[in-house]
Amino acid sequence: MRELFPGVYKWKGKLWTKNLVPGQRVYNERLEAYEGIEYRSWDPFRSKLAAAIVKKLKNFPIRSGSRLLYLGIAEGTTASHISDIIGKKGVIFGVDISEKCLAKLLQVCEKRKNIIPFLGDANKPESYAEYVKEIKPTILYQDVSQKNQAEIFNKNAKLFLKKGDFGLLALKAPSISSTKKPSRVFRKQEKILLDEFIIVETVPLAPFEKKHRFYVLKKR
Ligand SMILES: C[S@@+](CC[C@H](N)C(=O)[O-])C[C@H]1O[C@@H](n2cnc3c(N)ncnc32)[C@H](O)[C@@H]1O
Repeated sequence: MRELFPGVYKWKGKLWTKNLVPGQRVYNERLEAYEGIEYRSWDPFRSKLAAAIVKKLKNFPIRSGSRLLYLGIAEGTTASHISDIIGKKGVIFGVDISEKCLAKLLQVCEKRKNIIPFLGDANKPESYAEYVKEIKPTILYQDVSQKNQAEIFNKNAKLFLKKGDFGLLALKAPSISSTKKPSRVFRKQEKILLDEFIIVETVPLAPFEKKHRFYVLKKR
């Protein structure tokens, strides 16, 4: 077993995180023990963060104890692995607009006390600002299939991040334009992101996700 980043492991050709809730699966992933500790396999076809790691992401700011604001947390597939990595001292404030997703996420949160679920619109950060400000996140994670993905990201960063904090962003070109070339779409989104961020790293996610890019950004 090899540690790629703190709390992220490669073993038997797969990615793994240490299971914060031994014996519990979140999305039918594999559970295996190594030297008496249980690990959960992390599927790059189900999680864009895992896909970015498999595609040789170099900068991974999430650590034990990290505090994150997660926009588009859905049912908590990726968030559950982040929950493993940050451990009991870390926290994820997870926002999603879908009631159906939130209902499933609530089941995950019952066991994982470091995830706080919130039903809301990432376009309206004022609606959750009072709670997020208490948490003081230093990492903004976003994966929302919306036309204005970069604007949503900037708006939230402006409100909640400080200079030097990190942004992790999955951009999906077809959600922004289904007719324009993805490279053009990404260039335009990057121009918007530069208002608030320095782009540290960009990783194309194919073959796991087509027409997607993963960004590591640093708040200006
Ligand atoms: C691709 S899924 C996220 C998958 C998740 N990040 C994971 O890896 O486990 C995109 C999510 O964004 C949510 N979403 C779309 N528009 C949103 C908005 N304006 N505010 C909050 N969530 C939104 C959708 O409900 C959906 O759950």
